[in-house]
Amino acid sequence: MKNYREELQSRRTFAIISHPDAGKTTLTEKLLYYSGTIREAGSVKGKKNSKHALSDWMEIEKQRGISVTSSVLEVLYSGYHVNILDTPGHEDFSEDTYRTLTAADSATMLIDAAKGVEAQTKKLFKVCRMRGIPIFTFMNKLDRQGKDPFELMEELEDVLGIRSYPMNWPIGMGQDFSGVYDRHRKKIELFNPDDPKDIEVRDVNGPDDPLIDEIIQDPGLVEQFREEIELLDVAGDSFDEELIAEGKLTPIFWGSAISNFGVQTFLDHFLEMAPAPTPRESNQGEINPFDHEKFSGFIFKIQANMNPAHRDRIAFLRVTSGVFNRGMSVNHVRLGKQMKLAQPTQFLAQSRNIIENAYAGDIIGLYDPGTFRIGDTLVEDGSFEFDEMPHFSPEHFAAITVKDAMKHKSFEKGVQQLTEEGAIQLFKTYNKTIEQQIVGVVGVLQFEVLEYRLKNEYKSDIQLERLPFSFARWIEGDEQALEKFKRMQRNLVTDRDGRIVCLFENEFQMRTAQDKYPDIQFYENSYTKPIS
Ligand code: G4P
Repeated sequence: MKNYREELQSRRTFAIISHPDAGKTTLTEKLLYYSGTIREAGSVKGKKNSKHALSDWMEIEKQRGISVTSSVLEVLYSGYHVNILDTPGHEDFSEDTYRTLTAADSATMLIDAAKGVEAQTKKLFKVCRMRGIPIFTFMNKLDRQGKDPFELMEELEDVLGIRSYPMNWPIGMGQDFSGVYDRHRKKIELFNPDDPKDIEVRDVNGPDDPLIDEIIQDPGLVEQFREEIELLDVAGDSFDEELIAEGKLTPIFWGSAISNFGVQTFLDHFLEMAPAPTPRESNQGEINPFDHEKFSGFIFKIQANMNPAHRDRIAFLRVTSGVFNRGMSVNHVRLGKQMKLAQPTQFLAQSRNIIENAYAGDIIGLYDPGTFRIGDTLVEDGSFEFDEMPHFSPEHFAAITVKDAMKHKSFEKGVQQLTEEGAIQLFKTYNKTIEQQIVGVVGVLQFEVLEYRLKNEYKSDIQLERLPFSFARWIEGDEQALEKFKRMQRNLVTDRDGRIVCLFENEFQMRTAQDKYPDIQFYENSYTKPIS
């Protein structure tokens, strides 16, 4: 039996961030292959209509064959208890995807070596950067010709502003891909294209070892490899654990997920370097799970209608400190109410599993009769609340009205409910004679979800009039500057908490406003923290 500290030390909770098609599903499947899967929430999202697409919780999901929600996988590997948070990518990219990252302690950034840093990776990276969590990079698809490795490193720096340290280095690429050289352990892992699973590992005495000429047998390739390693050693960043922990330096691993090449090496290094459950800020100071053994946690995601037959909701809670035991009484701090958590659930593929206990770092699902909101704190003892969950800039906007005015009440209730679940963000026009409600979503599918759910659950047919905006910026500044800005600027709205938000159609418009009002701060999320 492990004690509390040991349980925590063995936990790793991370998310994989990537652009669709970079190979996230493939990599996740390989990670499962190496581990004993103990619990799966929703399972790995698969291709359309594939047997992996298990989360057919909503009609929309069934019709489209995609999963609307992110899932959590719990696996055991080499003494580690690993929680992998999925960040949905294709059409189902939503604010949930961002929020999921608030529950992670580190991230794996998966990049297709032929494509480099793509749009969605950039968006998700920004959230990780905002949180300052360590980011580990897996450069995928080395079995195909991709960009030059140095070019990829430059892209990380230019596009994302993060420096990198290759833990290993590829020898050739595509047709010439021969393997990787482990810079720390001084080993060569050989790639066998005919049988990628057959990985031969050879110890060498550094890159100049003549053994390398023997095993690679392509003098040009070996020469190039030696030059590259020399360049890295001389001009590259050094390995710095502190910078890695702060998310300022990303260790890079090269491989091919589909061939299962480099995955285990990545996993071994990653689990060793990634942090155990990290502290979270609260209104009563930092809560560090290693010092605070009483249970606490926060809700980061609410999933409605996972089971259409029961129409229940599940609130996903990240255990922040202590141990959760089934049946325990906790304080729901926002409501100031004591409640018993008798029906917590973990999700096993298609059936649900009741769990008995969970430790800091774990994710549990709670049956939610409508008591939870995104960001709610539950504590065993005391009444602190974790920092507010930020809202992130939506990318699609629409004015929303109910078709039948008689349904107004239930429409309002539905919209409020969906806002609390975090499916949509609701804004109101600011200083307009006729107040208008504006809905903002990160992924356009959420509009369909909104229409579907209001119709089915709240019997309200709605009209959505798409608006041309693509960005929301939370505005701050001193009183005078704000007054001027509010007088002059069009397209102002207020968010749910009454904060002023400015909507922009494009980056040019946004930059013009930023140049024109240097005393105003424009924030990409409601945290009002800059994302660099
Ligand atoms: P995603 O979850 O990030 O969207 O990506 P997914 O794993 O579904 O992979 C996207 C495509 O990339 C798949 O091909 C997959 O086989 C391929 N892929 C993943 N890793 C590698 C790799 O290391 N090398 C190469 N060459 N390809 C890789 P697909 O043709 O879209 O689907 P499938 O028919 O292979 O399933």
